[in-house]
Amino acid sequence: MAEQSPNGDVETKEVEQQDQVVDPWSVSGGADGRIDYNKLLEQFGCSKLTEDLVERVERLTGRPAHPFLKRGIFFAHRDLQEILDCYEKGIPFYLYTGRGPSSEALHLGHLVPFMFTKYLQDAFNVPLVIQLTDDEKCLWRGLDIDEARRLARENAKDIIACGFDVSKTFIFSDFEYVGGAFYRNIIRIQRCVTMNQVRGIFGFTPEDNIGKIAFPAVQAAPSFPDCFPHMFGQRKDIRCLIPCAIDQDPYFRMTRDVAPRIGHLKPALIESKFFPALQGESGKMSASDSNSAIFVNDTPAQIKDKINKYAFSGGGATVEEHRAKGANLAVDVPWKYLNFFMEDDAKLANIGQEYGAGRMLTGEIKKELITVLTDMVSRHQRARAQVTDDVVDAFMAVRPMPCV
Ligand code: TRP
Repeated sequence: MAEQSPNGDVETKEVEQQDQVVDPWSVSGGADGRIDYNKLLEQFGCSKLTEDLVERVERLTGRPAHPFLKRGIFFAHRDLQEILDCYEKGIPFYLYTGRGPSSEALHLGHLVPFMFTKYLQDAFNVPLVIQLTDDEKCLWRGLDIDEARRLARENAKDIIACGFDVSKTFIFSDFEYVGGAFYRNIIRIQRCVTMNQVRGIFGFTPEDNIGKIAFPAVQAAPSFPDCFPHMFGQRKDIRCLIPCAIDQDPYFRMTRDVAPRIGHLKPALIESKFFPALQGESGKMSASDSNSAIFVNDTPAQIKDKINKYAFSGGGATVEEHRAKGANLAVDVPWKYLNFFMEDDAKLANIGQEYGAGRMLTGEIKKELITVLTDMVSRHQRARAQVTDDVVDAFMAVRPMPCV
């Protein structure tokens, strides 16, 4: 069956009993094509992000939780309580997230972790490191090295446009930053993990190139603060919280296993569901199929056209049927997208009721979505236009950052 990978590769794998597959390179649903997130929690051994934890975040930060938290889009975690305990006691922590630069422009699914990380940085007022794994994309996608480095800088502009605070944010590309304290940690990690273990965690085979086998240590290392002496000095006691989509969990399971063996704290995680492709929620958007995704550089006409043409509808086949039975919200893409990006809770709830009951038509909910996305994308484009090469250099400079 064809599977959409998180980063746009389309891979073909025989999945015999139609078990769902979620790993950093492929995501495909079970027998009904959908992802069973509760089953994932169990398989991966993460905890459910419960309402009382969300309330605790609100109490501690003194601001309303991000819609991604209130609406269960970030739904899983590891050790989030520990981070909140630190924050409550005034003990510093930092955020770590990343992006594998595989395409010229980000699509809306790529924006989700960065929008959420921006909220976390503001709400907790903490330092942030962002890894651009340009090396990863050369190893997996055969991308030319110089092209990967160029895409990393292009993607950095879209990331910066999400509004990060330059005084607290360090963006680095692996090709530029591997070395020094970072590389020493990579080797400490590599020494602890055997071929058998990475085969078990990531499914590597003897035919995979040796770069792939060594790479997980490169994504693991930024979980440790002493990779960033210009930010944290030699300190090892600063906790790390990683916001990411749940397909990245295998990397950090490995990291958490290794951490205590090399004298480090385990990173905590806060993990999201996937942003569905326009064609339906069984996978994620694919950067290699431009009709499956809305990109941050799409024009208003493209956005309108893609939603009207491709957004999978849970509405009735005819107006009569729709009026009688209502829409199936569980599979409806416009409804799902609005849950990610419509800010107004009351308006969203009302649309859910009206559309679910068949009083609102598919064309009408699509129109709402087109408005929301066109606004969001044009805001993003205006912000990105301000991000010059000098701004990128400022975020990526190894500079003294007294942030804890
Ligand atoms: N592997 C991720 C990707 O392909 C990029 C990444 C690197 C990342 N470090 C991370 C994602 C930390 C989340 C958290 O996009």
